[in-house]
Amino acid sequence: MEKKSSFSSRIGFVLAAAGSAVGLGNIWRFPYLAAKYGGGIFLLVYLILAVTFGFALMVTEISIGRKTGKSVIDAYKLIDGRFSFLGYLAALVPIIIFPYYCVIGGWVVKFLTVYITGQEHEATSPEYFGNFIGSTAEPIICLAVFLFITALVVLLGVEKGIEKVSKFLMPVLICMSIGTAAYSLLLDGAVEGLVYYVKPNFSLFSIKTVIAAMGQLFYSMSLAMGIMVTYGSYMQKNDDLEKSVRNIEIFDTSIAFLSGMMIIPAVFAFSGGDPEALQKGPTLMFVTLPNVFVSMNGGHIFGLVFFILVLFAALTSAISLMETIVSIIADRFKIKRPVICLAVMLFSFLIAIPSSLGYGVLADFTIFKMQILDFFDFISNNIMMPIVALLTAVLIGFVVKPKYISDEVEVSGKFKSKKMYNVIIKYIVPVCMVIILVSSILGYV
Ligand code: PHE
Repeated sequence: MEKKSSFSSRIGFVLAAAGSAVGLGNIWRFPYLAAKYGGGIFLLVYLILAVTFGFALMVTEISIGRKTGKSVIDAYKLIDGRFSFLGYLAALVPIIIFPYYCVIGGWVVKFLTVYITGQEHEATSPEYFGNFIGSTAEPIICLAVFLFITALVVLLGVEKGIEKVSKFLMPVLICMSIGTAAYSLLLDGAVEGLVYYVKPNFSLFSIKTVIAAMGQLFYSMSLAMGIMVTYGSYMQKNDDLEKSVRNIEIFDTSIAFLSGMMIIPAVFAFSGGDPEALQKGPTLMFVTLPNVFVSMNGGHIFGLVFFILVLFAALTSAISLMETIVSIIADRFKIKRPVICLAVMLFSFLIAIPSSLGYGVLADFTIFKMQILDFFDFISNNIMMPIVALLTAVLIGFVVKPKYISDEVEVSGKFKSKKMYNVIIKYIVPVCMVIILVSSILGYV
């Protein structure tokens, strides 16, 4: 994407932003968090946060981008020189997320090869996945493959192509998710899982539910890391901003919801409702789904296509992460793009290696009792993003005032949720962010 160019149509913008938003966060991370943090109650908290909080933050970031026409570092500097550091802080988040994102991307690559080579029966045992991520060379090779493909696309700059492919593949992903979810629901014992997933059980509510849902919201919607600011800077002035944000949210949340429908009922079906099984965390998608596919007629093809789509969703997100890092460096320094791409690729590879080994030889090495990958996930989602969101809300709510944003939204139409927006950005975001930060730091999560 060249600076000052813009998306040709509103739908192009929505799809590109959705391509960044819809990724492993929706398909891999959301279901395991929902399973872990109380099912229906997590879903409810997440939905409420998405339409209030997520909405307000996304409107803010896209408006900042469109108004200033700059990517994140320069945008914050332009709004108020005292807040320049905030741009740098936001820019640091993708740098932390990208390497470990590639580790999980590598796991998807591995599972795709499992289906290509017809080993899906072996892959159904929990040990299979454990042995794979616990080994040394194989996950690193897979992560290198994933990283290499991502870097290649960023280097060639084929965003236009990706936009075209997204238009076709995103709807396919939705259809397949509906198909798989419907199938999961037919498994014996799945209905209990469905109830757990959609019916809020208020006795399972805790501050942890809110913290986990909030972290997931940032992650899933690519918020608080400057990505939406950059995308906003490419948006046309006459495209309806509020409507676009709603569309992106609906897209992102539907895929997350459907992924939960594929996985959680199946967890119940295969474990007989064992609560332990719900706590499995990051491994859920790689252990439960292969079991679903193996038990299905034509499961081989279904699994194959499914992992191709997951890989695609992961790649579009990874590309947006890497593109952001590369463009931040390209904006600052006079270095050729291919050199930057190569440097970012090597640097991310080196940082990703310990995250990968954290499940194997480095399993005993923990940081604040967390595995290395979990630590990077925690520090970005639970510490840095809340800080960026908090300071952005202070900047908009109290320094330049919410009118700064609502004026920009109104350039392209009426701002229907203006009142709600003002209250959320001024009061609710700051208060919640402080609560999240304090509880994260006190080790609640
Ligand atoms: N939102 C993406 C997902 O859900 C992850 C991501 C985070 C992408 C940050 C870009 C930037 O997988």
